[in-house]
Amino acid sequence: MSLKLPVYMDHAATTPCDPRVVEAMLPYFTERFGNSGSRNHRFGWEAEEGVDWAREMAAKLIGSTDKEILFTSGSTESNNLAIKGAAYMYEKAPAGSKNRGHIITAIHEHKAVLDPVKRLVKEGFEATFLEPGEDGLITAEMIAKALRPDTILVTIMWANNEIGTINEIPAIGKLCHEKGVLLHTDATQWVGKMPTNVETDNIDLMSWSGHKMYGPKGVGALYVRRHRPRVRLQALQDGGGQERGFRSGTLNVAGIVGFGKACEIAMNEMAADAIRLGRLRKKLEDALTAQIDVSKINGHLEKRLPHITNISFGFVEGEGLMMAVKNIACSSGSACTSASLEPSYVLKALGVGDELAHSSLRLSLGKWTTEEQVDYAIGEITKAVKKLREMSPLYDMHKEGIDLSKVEWAHH
Ligand SMILES: Cc1ncc(COP(=O)(O)O)c(C=O)c1O
Repeated sequence: MSLKLPVYMDHAATTPCDPRVVEAMLPYFTERFGNSGSRNHRFGWEAEEGVDWAREMAAKLIGSTDKEILFTSGSTESNNLAIKGAAYMYEKAPAGSKNRGHIITAIHEHKAVLDPVKRLVKEGFEATFLEPGEDGLITAEMIAKALRPDTILVTIMWANNEIGTINEIPAIGKLCHEKGVLLHTDATQWVGKMPTNVETDNIDLMSWSGHKMYGPKGVGALYVRRHRPRVRLQALQDGGGQERGFRSGTLNVAGIVGFGKACEIAMNEMAADAIRLGRLRKKLEDALTAQIDVSKINGHLEKRLPHITNISFGFVEGEGLMMAVKNIACSSGSACTSASLEPSYVLKALGVGDELAHSSLRLSLGKWTTEEQVDYAIGEITKAVKKLREMSPLYDMHKEGIDLSKVEWAHH
């Protein structure tokens, strides 16, 4: 069978919708189209039944109760509601005061966490942005050192979206509970891939998203703990009072049913998927690092999600590399800003230099990634790097044994 190109290796950006998810959603666009808030007729009840079922599936996947699940439009919204909603509710001093409360996060979180925290800082809250080591990890020890008497919230992602590294969430949560501080975790890359239990993992608030786990885009959830402690949030959106007043707006019933189906499938299949993808990722990494010298896997080598790898290739130019591997849909270590290509701030946080960050690839595998696709990616990437290096005088010097860090370059 011939391979269909391009090969999709960007599952950390988004996943295809599982056909079983689409099938579960379809009736909710046509026959069961009611507003789940309509209490007086069958159309409303059927829609509500769908939402209730999805809430049960979401709760089951993370070991919570149904009442602790709020449906949102995705992780960006869940993060905003958790972080700002908790900050406004637990502030130590009212708006206009100097220090309204202290928040701990990390510099290599997703923008959907960093930007809400930065906005809160502008509004009078204080924040500590922890810096990881070369392994990319945030540990309970780092949190312990940063905690202050006025800390109200810790927000640390479970698994990083660029490098796949896994933070010590259960231990961080234990510490937070001991100190009476709330823990929010952006678990967008984690839930549905790895086992999660909000009770034993000591989590108070947790965000995740449908489109990262073979569900639809534009739907996500926020877990909000109701016991020990009962977490309160200030709603960010006013209106009809849906989702127990935390998130007004008519529910996206079809999307929510799809989200529920994705949660149900994940419960049954994630363990086997993780084993299979871990094997494929190992094959990919072993081959690339064996065939290409001066290549490095970014982030902790063990404490990582099984389906993501982020590899830097020395002596190649980033844009050239992306062009040369255009038959592999993946992400680079460059982020497009309005003006230019910036090196990834996540890789920079690990101490990866600008040049190497640009010449990095994030390859993320998924449920339908085949061995044939992995073999193809190995061949294409190896060929591309070798070809680009044929044009690199620096690579020639490196091969001749010249230590490039000691070379004094002429500046014009
Ligand atoms: C870690 C992380 N947080 C948040 C988001 C944003 O999620 P959504 O697209 O559901 O708003 C993403 C997706 O890019 C992510 O990877």
